Amino acid sequence: MKLLGSGTSGAKIILTGEHAVVYGIPAIAIPFNGVMTTVNIYKTEEEITIDSRFYKGLYQDATQIISGLKSLIKKLIKEFNLDDYGYHFEIISDIEPQRGMGSSAALSVATVKAFYNAFNIKLSNDKLIELAMFAEKIHHSNPSGLDVYTLVYEKPVWFIRDEGFKTFDINLDAHLVIIDTNLMSQTRTSVEAVKKMRTSSPKLITKIFDEISLVSCKAKEALKNNDLKTLNKLIAINQKLLKELNVSSEIIETTISRAKTLGMTSMKLTGGGIGGCVIGFTNDLAVIDKLSKYFRNVWVTNMGGLNEG
Ligand code: MEV
Repeated sequence: MKLLGSGTSGAKIILTGEHAVVYGIPAIAIPFNGVMTTVNIYKTEEEITIDSRFYKGLYQDATQIISGLKSLIKKLIKEFNLDDYGYHFEIISDIEPQRGMGSSAALSVATVKAFYNAFNIKLSNDKLIELAMFAEKIHHSNPSGLDVYTLVYEKPVWFIRDEGFKTFDINLDAHLVIIDTNLMSQTRTSVEAVKKMRTSSPKLITKIFDEISLVSCKAKEALKNNDLKTLNKLIAINQKLLKELNVSSEIIETTISRAKTLGMTSMKLTGGGIGGCVIGFTNDLAVIDKLSKYFRNVWVTNMGGLNEG
């Protein structure tokens, strides 16, 4: 088997505005490269095969669980005018699936990059976004695009659906702490639940979305102005609003309470919710040490390092 090319993608963390972003409310997300997905494409003399955590075997028999990837590969094979034969796709990833870290978007981005790399074709960011969004629409029916834009631009992103996005520089002397609840998040289900609530309780949803919008606006300023105290207050407000949207859960609330007893000021869920990860900010290394000892999976990233390069 000959390696033709590879593509990689890091993960993303939504700081504020998830769910509301689907309906045009501003959201903030940052890239997180502490975990990565790599897709390798090999040339073979056999039927197309896939080797991933969820599926190993013939491409044509691939299950529902990787339907986005399967459709994306089919589309790329067609676009590149390739034979429907003679390739092996290897997916290596330490982005935990369904944790709100954008594992599905990362897989789509890495797959597109791998194809363009394998066949030596220049890939623009716009084309990468277009193709990754094609797969994201299969993963969940109405994606805002926030995940894909953040992974493609690899910068902190201020995002308003259909209006566009801006990358911006963060100036925050603190660490972002990510704690895994070790329960799968359920983006498709929670996005559908918010959609239903929007129909059944439109006034309540408008009120919640307006407040989330304010949280994102103020959080952007806090992130730019090294204002950890305000940011922590906004994180608490955003979590309260996400709870009102019914996308939090017992495990999320328990994880946040426990983290607070260990010294975190506030935390919130990130991404789709129900399970997944919770996030918060601190500059207290002793607190980080306690969290790392108590919880099974904790990631820490220095926000000060985000704008380098
Ligand atoms: C999922 O990572 C974030 C949501 O806001 C959905 C989306 O933006 O498409 C829940």
